[in-house]
Amino acid sequence: MRVADVAEALSELPEVAAWQLVPGSEGDTLLVAGPADAERGDDRATGTVRDEQAVLGAAASGDAAVNGNDLAQLPPLMRLLDETALLTMARVLDRTRLFRDPAPHPAAEIVAALGTAPRHAWIVRRWLRTLTAEGRLAQDPDSDCYRDLTAPDRAEYARARRTLDEACRGMGYPESMTRFFFAAADRLPLLLQDRTSLQEVLFPQGETATAEGNYRDNVPSRWANHAAADLIAGEALRRAAQENGNRPLRVLEAGAGVGGTTETVLSALGATPVDYLFTDVSRFFLQTSRTRFGTRQGLRQALFDINRDPSAQGFTPGSHDVILAANVLHNARHVGRALAALRELLVPDGLLVLVESCREHYQALTSMYLLMSPQADEERWFTDLRAGQDRVFLTEGEWARQLDAAGFRALPVLPPDGHPLTALGQHVVAGRPRPAGHDRPDPGRVARALAHLPETVRPARVHTVDRVLSTTTSGASR
Ligand SMILES: C[S@@+](CC[C@H](N)C(=O)[O-])C[C@H]1O[C@@H](n2cnc3c(N)ncnc32)[C@H](O)[C@@H]1O
Repeated sequence: MRVADVAEALSELPEVAAWQLVPGSEGDTLLVAGPADAERGDDRATGTVRDEQAVLGAAASGDAAVNGNDLAQLPPLMRLLDETALLTMARVLDRTRLFRDPAPHPAAEIVAALGTAPRHAWIVRRWLRTLTAEGRLAQDPDSDCYRDLTAPDRAEYARARRTLDEACRGMGYPESMTRFFFAAADRLPLLLQDRTSLQEVLFPQGETATAEGNYRDNVPSRWANHAAADLIAGEALRRAAQENGNRPLRVLEAGAGVGGTTETVLSALGATPVDYLFTDVSRFFLQTSRTRFGTRQGLRQALFDINRDPSAQGFTPGSHDVILAANVLHNARHVGRALAALRELLVPDGLLVLVESCREHYQALTSMYLLMSPQADEERWFTDLRAGQDRVFLTEGEWARQLDAAGFRALPVLPPDGHPLTALGQHVVAGRPRPAGHDRPDPGRVARALAHLPETVRPARVHTVDRVLSTTTSGASR
């Protein structure tokens, strides 16, 4: 009766208008919000115009970083990648021989025929829906059964791969990118069965060059990394002017990985004094970062898991000027909870900078998605708006709503509307903590109201937010 007990305790607090219990491996997190129409912190704050100018400057830096590339060539190249991925999925499915007869097959039978590990079943379901949407498979009306697969023969598939390879080289993409894409495609049955891992393909013999090509050297990533770096360098200048340059800029980078974004940010910061905390959930990246950035003054490394309570990992509220998370926050099991926790780590006028893919690329369905499945022993996967939907990425609009609900004032998303790279879906989404309105509940008071509950029932932590977004999970609001 955990939910009922919490509801009863919260009913004593008139300032709590909505709440949600978010389950997690270390106990539940309680998100609490005041009345929806409560006076919010002022969104027309003086910083808004300055931030809009900063965003324009960041876009100019992004453009300068890809100067010389014919951006009009990118959408057709992405379509070629998508089409090759569709052919890859169709070939893998064809090899099950299920589609050699005209009978429809339930998705579960297809998943089983591939020997798919349960944690990767969602990927096969996504293949089925994607191939159907693209006219390469037929779905029986009102059922989860599929038939009539159109798969390429060996020659057609080889031709498609050659065409893609040549097109990528024409765009100056590193050869390692297509090599990785094809190596993953060739191992898909084994990858789906968890008999090999994508990490082995992405980091052969522990080398990071392939991953660097993926996150840093392609045109949309280069644009986004330079735009993000420009926002952070601008923030350093603003804070130095405000504080007479007395303190280093305190940056927390989450999920820094191979450091593709880190490198661009550090280079944009130049000689600015920094206290730059390079973090990741995996020790492997902390070690490669030490080797790569070795002597950079002010750079430290630490483990940090965005799905765990930051204070339990040694992080102090209000201790960072900037938080950067490039291509990582979609790994949050509950984006609202992760954003609320990050907001608390920032100083009141701090800056959150996210780089996120807001559009699905089919090539991810045959490669990177293998890294995003739940762990084999993970009880649940996403518990936010993505619950039960077989998807990982949020759209731009969803990020904007999530930031707003978690108590951030969002800056205009980059690249701006009408930019040639906008449709490719790699975006910089930034925000600043919104000052609490009069009615944002006090987390300490909420925690005290719950203190009498037995430990097994009491939420492990409380975050205040500006709105609780309803989801299909165990959340409740009143
Ligand atoms: C797609 S890579 C991005 C790497 C880097 N930010 C970049 O853009 O160059 C995702 C990174 O997030 C890390 N990651 C995954 N889950 C995480 C979590 N729960 N907490 C922190 N980092 C996580 C991975 O280890 C990996 O380094």
